[in-house]
Amino acid sequence: MQERISELRNRFGADLDAAATLEACKAVRDRWLGREQGIIPAEMKRLRELPPGERPAFGAAMNVLRGEVEQGIARALERFQAEARRAAADRARVDVTRPGFPFEIGIEHPIRRLQAEIEEVFVSMGFEVWDLPEIETEHYNFEGLNMPANHPARDSQDTFYLPGGKLLRTHCSPVQVHAMEERKPPIRAVATGKVYRRDPFDATHSPMFYQADVLVVDNGITMGDLKGTLETFLKHVFRPDIRMRLRPGFFPFVEPGAEVDISCIFCFGAGCGKCKGSGWIEILGAGMVHPKVLRMSGVDPERYTGFAWGMGIDRIAILKYGVDDIRLFFENDLRFLTQF
Ligand code: PHE
Repeated sequence: MQERISELRNRFGADLDAAATLEACKAVRDRWLGREQGIIPAEMKRLRELPPGERPAFGAAMNVLRGEVEQGIARALERFQAEARRAAADRARVDVTRPGFPFEIGIEHPIRRLQAEIEEVFVSMGFEVWDLPEIETEHYNFEGLNMPANHPARDSQDTFYLPGGKLLRTHCSPVQVHAMEERKPPIRAVATGKVYRRDPFDATHSPMFYQADVLVVDNGITMGDLKGTLETFLKHVFRPDIRMRLRPGFFPFVEPGAEVDISCIFCFGAGCGKCKGSGWIEILGAGMVHPKVLRMSGVDPERYTGFAWGMGIDRIAILKYGVDDIRLFFENDLRFLTQF
């Protein structure tokens, strides 16, 4: 009987020693202590088969063995569980001495920065900034600006039309119609943003570019107000000693209309390759708001007059920064963009 008990003790010891993982350890526990099939409970059942005289000694020895088995398993389980906790903690630990991952700091796109700078100049002069949709209706982009259905600018060769009678705005001048429909004079409005035309993508054209449009409507606004405001603006964006001149020009929504030139910023008017020897560079279109445009948007042309102008922000950037290819602004080459 003693032999049988010590044989069981040795078997258990070897079994537990061989258990190298928490899972194996749990299997040892089930094998030895399992209520139905466990080795210890099965041995206990054999008690009844023994002669009554041997039962007390065997029972006592089996109880001791069962205590050893329970303790041995509990200690092994505890050891494996502690190991698992330590491993999990190690995995979660952050090594604060490791070097970080360097990342480059972005920059504002030069066109976007110039756009914001232009808006700021007008805000400082009391203008309201209008953030208008790039998807427009014919009413705002053409009709309300005195460009009726047969107008050449409305040709599908030049304009991106969308399903449902919508289109991608071809200029920022719709601000005139929006502002006059929604506000009563005095109106001082500026709108900047993307515009779209069916143009090639080459050094001087892009099917998407940026414009800024300006509108002022009030009692007694004259061409003098247009010139004064324009000159203030141009001196601010380019340089304080810049000169400008107005030439007659045609836009259906202004009367009279003007093409505005600035003195060449490369040769200061002496004449160079950039200004084709003239000393002047064309920069924008302007004029007094056409009476028809005022009336269509609910402003009485007998009481009020106004001026408007529109300009290409990319064009200003090209001149201001001496860039000779508009595509550079849209190709996202950081070597170029980080120069500004
Ligand atoms: N919308 C015109 C263009 O895109 C510019 C312009 C605006 C001209 C306002 C006169 C008055 O060329």
